[in-house]
Parts: sequence; structure tokens; C-alpha cells
Amino acid sequence: MKKTITAIAAGVLLATMSSSMAADNVLIGSCIYKFDDTFMTGVRNNMEVAAKDLGAEIELVDSQNRQPLQNDQVDTFITKGVNALVVNPVDRSAAGPLAKKAKDENLPIIFINREPVREVLDSWDKSYYVGAKAEESGTIAGQLIADYFKANPAADKNGDGVIQYILIKGEQGHQDATLRSEYCVKAMKDAGMKIEEIGSDNANWDKVLGHDKMKNFITAKGIDAIEAVLANNDDMALGAIEALKSEGYNTGKDPKKFIPVVGVDATAPALQAIGAGQMLGTSLNDAKNQGTAAVRIAVKAAQGEAITDESIGYKVTDGKYVWIPYVRVDATNYKDFM
Ligand code: GAL
Repeated sequence: MKKTITAIAAGVLLATMSSSMAADNVLIGSCIYKFDDTFMTGVRNNMEVAAKDLGAEIELVDSQNRQPLQNDQVDTFITKGVNALVVNPVDRSAAGPLAKKAKDENLPIIFINREPVREVLDSWDKSYYVGAKAEESGTIAGQLIADYFKANPAADKNGDGVIQYILIKGEQGHQDATLRSEYCVKAMKDAGMKIEEIGSDNANWDKVLGHDKMKNFITAKGIDAIEAVLANNDDMALGAIEALKSEGYNTGKDPKKFIPVVGVDATAPALQAIGAGQMLGTSLNDAKNQGTAAVRIAVKAAQGEAITDESIGYKVTDGKYVWIPYVRVDATNYKDFM
């Protein structure tokens, strides 16, 4: 069930890949911005599975959220003689020098999750980006909230016709933080909602920080003033839910004591929280298809083949980009993603 839905939703081309996909002799070197990130752990695990399926070897290293360390790791991979690089930049504005290193060695480089500017991708023929359009997940988050208030007008606790919300953002400068924040607000307005932001802060994708920031908002504004929480990812949403739980809200036991909270990613704990009536919804950030697409590009490019819809089984845009769609997830369909 899950596979079918994900594949259809992701618009994955069910093309058979050409037979040269067997890749016994391909070694991929991959740097992940930090291993201690829930969503990127999903991508990482799926990259390992995809490499194994193709008979390629992949070596994954933890860049520990330090760009200088990541630069050294890329140098080490080059010295080692890898055939392709897959890089999740620590700082996406620092991708240029990495593309240059790859170009100097005639090595394919696939950036994932943190999108470099177009000029970086244009600076080297064999550079690519695999990711998801953050606008979509922002729109889904805003629509989840708008639909909730349409169905539950009494959730406007002070009855002023305006929904007072808290926004918990990811890392500053990350395209997913900027665009999700912008588009969730836009989607609520487009749905005709009257809204008021009563608090907004960055919590760097982190559950503990999400909890602490939410605690601060509860202390500053009072729990009764908060009518909705929009977080740029599930870990921060789950942190916020912990803070609400300690006020007796969102325990899943009393539907009257529920403040709608939305996230992004559809991590396992978020799906559980949705099932338990503690969280309103999220969107699937498709780690499986993002990881698989990145590995397939790495293998094909390492084998000197062209990157096309047919050669990798995913839609390729401008010869450079693979965009994996987000999927709306709420209480009606969360089981399909477990
Ligand atoms: C986002 C994801 C976050 C975090 C971030 C890391 O796409 O939603 O949870 O993993 O990437 O760059």
C-alpha cells in the first residue's frame, strides 16, 4: 500500500532503467551535514539501500554541522578516488568551492536537501540537485490549518474571528525555513483566514529547541492566547507538542484541549502523534525517493551516461534537477506512510 501511494504521489517514472545500471565498480562518497538530524538520517539510510540495490558502494560521513570539516571530507574522498560525490552542504552558500573541486577532478557531484544557487550548478556540467520544493510543504501546512478552523470554528478560542498562531522556523538561511514560513502564511490567507502571528522564532530543526521556544511563548503569551502552531519540520512540532502536553493540552485524551500543530517530514514519531490525536498533520518529505534519485544519478554519471528521465527513472528538469513532490498527511491517511 505504502509503496504504491508513495510512488504515484511522487510522480516517479516507472521506467525501467537501462541494464548498465549494475555498478560493481562505482564508489560514491557522501557527506551529510550532520548525522544527528532525523530527516537526513532517513535519506542516508535510503541512500545505503539504493546503493546496495545497484551493487554500488557508498561511504557516508558526518560533517558535524561544520563546513570546513565537510570541505576536508570532500578532499579526502577525492584522494581516495571516489567516482561520484553526494553532498548535503552544511552551508548551502558554500557549495561553489565544492562544485569547483569536483569539476577539477571531472567528478559528478550531486547536492541534496540544501539547494545551491543556480550559478553553482551551472558552473559544472556534472553537478545536480535532488530535493523538494519547499513552497509545496509550506502550502500544505497552511491548508491543514485552514481546513481545521473551517471544520472547527470553536477552535478560535477567544472568538475574535482571527487565528492567533505561533511559527517555529528551521535554520536561518535554509531555503526550507524561508519558503515554508512564507508559504504557510500565504496559504492561510489564500484560504480566507484572518490570522495574527503572536510569536515566531528559529529552532534549527531541533526537537529540544522547538520545545524550549514553545515554552517561552506559552510563558510570554499564556496558553489561552495560542490557537495554532506551525513548525517548519516535525521534530520542532513534536518539541512544541511536548510543551503543550505539560499544560494539559494535546495529550490525545481530551479533544477540547487540542491546539492544532503542523510540521513537515512525516517522520515515524510524527505519524504516531497524528494517529494518537496529538498533532494535526504534516507533509511527506520523501526521504526514500530523494535518497534513491541521488544515488541513481551518482551511479549513472559515474558511468559516463547522460542523466535523463529514462536513465534514472525520475523526472529530470533542466538536465540538473530532480524534484520529489511533498504529500499531505493527516489523520485520514497517516497509516499509508508508516
Ligand atoms: C529539511 C527537513 C528538516 C531537516 C533539514 C535539514 O528538508 O524538513 O527536518 O532535515 O531539511 O537540512
